[in-house]
Amino acid sequence: MISQDVSSKIIDMPYIKPLFICLNRFRVQRFRGSINPEPGTLNFIYGGSMSEINKKIGFIGAGNMGEAFVGAIIKSNILSPSMIYVSDINKDRLNVLRSSYGISVLSDNVELFSTCDIIVLAVKPQHIGQVLSQIAEQKGYKIHNQKLVVSIAAGIPLRKIEDILYAPLDEKSRIKLPVIRVMPNTPALVLAGMAGMSANRHASDDDIKIVRSILEAMGKVIEFNEEDIDAVTALSGSGPAYVFYFIESMIEGGICVGLEPNYAATLTIATLKGAVKLMEELNESPELLRRKVTSPGGTTEAAFKVLDKNQVKQSIIEAIAAAANRSKELSG
Ligand SMILES: NC(=O)c1ccc[n+]([C@@H]2O[C@H](COP(=O)([O-])OP(=O)(O)OC[C@H]3O[C@@H](n4cnc5c(N)ncnc54)[C@H](OP(=O)(O)O)[C@@H]3O)[C@@H](O)[C@H]2O)c1
Repeated sequence: MISQDVSSKIIDMPYIKPLFICLNRFRVQRFRGSINPEPGTLNFIYGGSMSEINKKIGFIGAGNMGEAFVGAIIKSNILSPSMIYVSDINKDRLNVLRSSYGISVLSDNVELFSTCDIIVLAVKPQHIGQVLSQIAEQKGYKIHNQKLVVSIAAGIPLRKIEDILYAPLDEKSRIKLPVIRVMPNTPALVLAGMAGMSANRHASDDDIKIVRSILEAMGKVIEFNEEDIDAVTALSGSGPAYVFYFIESMIEGGICVGLEPNYAATLTIATLKGAVKLMEELNESPELLRRKVTSPGGTTEAAFKVLDKNQVKQSIIEAIAAAANRSKELSG
């Protein structure tokens, strides 16, 4: 269950209430941390501030997400480019990142691991095992100084990372190598991301604060128990795709009733942005706002008769449950 203090604050925010009820109906996450604020949004338990980090950070994998992290860290002055490293098997990507951001590039993941204090695993999930084994099987693998491993790989549990990285280490060294799992989403690429994070038992408050600062530079973040990361993956991780599907459907609907495609797209996107802004600024529930624009016998009511007949809401709920189940299966 959501802890008492947090749940009462959630209930105070009308537009969150339906979500809270829905979570109660299915399964509710344990909510450990806070979310970063933005006027008119979820700013109820914010406790941190953006801190300067005097550490070297390295990214294994310089693809879309690796670049999004690098760009956000530099833009928000969390670290200077001289403290940022990337390694990748793709030399072209390394050259692009070096020339765009002035950061250091390495072609050797093991060298990056030994050079950096914070190591972000930003390769595809299917490459994670190979990258971790490369690190843990290097000759003389030891953890002399405190490090922090951050994985953003979807569906890779902390246990899998620990199994490989901790196997050759004694308990004293394991403590020096905390691991934090992060589930970001694609709007992070435009600094409007929503991430969930979960830390293992060796992560200190400072480790969590550092990762939170980095994620806050790219949007919002909430800390969860790891068992809830599948639900986070299903909601905010896959969520942008559901929204794109809704946008696609509205545009097609507009075209079907006779609009030019470009006008249908403009009307849809502006309506979506406006509806979210209205909900946040009025701080009213989506249900109430929907009822306010649904006059008896009117056009919106005619639309909802069709949506309800086709059980669209139920389908979305079931789709999110299916995504959560699939994430659980993939995590093993
Ligand atoms: N993109 C998203 O929306 C999103 C959202 C949430 C989580 N994530 C997670 O973020 C991670 C990265 O995703 P992405 O979209 O950034 O992937 P990506 O664009 O494919 O980037 C991964 C990079 O890693 C390189 N690479 C592959 N094997 C490597 C190895 N052994 N050592 C070093 N580099 C290696 C790839 O090179 P090649 O291209 O040559 O293989 C590529 O440049 C994934 O685990 C994903 O689950 C992504």
